[in-house]
Amino acid sequence: MFKHLLHGRFTLSGSVLAIFQKRETIPIEAFFFPLFLLIYDLMETLPKIYDKKSVALELEAGDHWWCACGLSGHQPMCDGNHKGTGFGPKKFTLAEKQKVWLCNCKNSKNPPFCDGSHKSL
Ligand code: FES
Repeated sequence: MFKHLLHGRFTLSGSVLAIFQKRETIPIEAFFFPLFLLIYDLMETLPKIYDKKSVALELEAGDHWWCACGLSGHQPMCDGNHKGTGFGPKKFTLAEKQKVWLCNCKNSKNPPFCDGSHKSL
């Protein structure tokens, strides 16, 4: 089997062979390329983990836009770098000046606030 892998071919056997009855071998790229595309697509739907720690900020009253994609250069707030990713900022409003713990791992179930999800990443 390894000899075939070295030559870029994968020898089929057993029930897999029944699927490809007409061919004894398939190019190894044909086997892994769809898997690579699937993994790439799944990764595109996930936000980038900016940091596995939350951040405490003293914020003024008013509207704020938290970065949900993880690509902002002005974390944890949005700077517009999400364009074309399918992500968008999460708007939140504070009634008064207060200290808040904001999520930086982008996996919180209660965005933009940290819920401890970074501990399981
Ligand atoms: S830059 Fe991340 S949501 Fe805007």
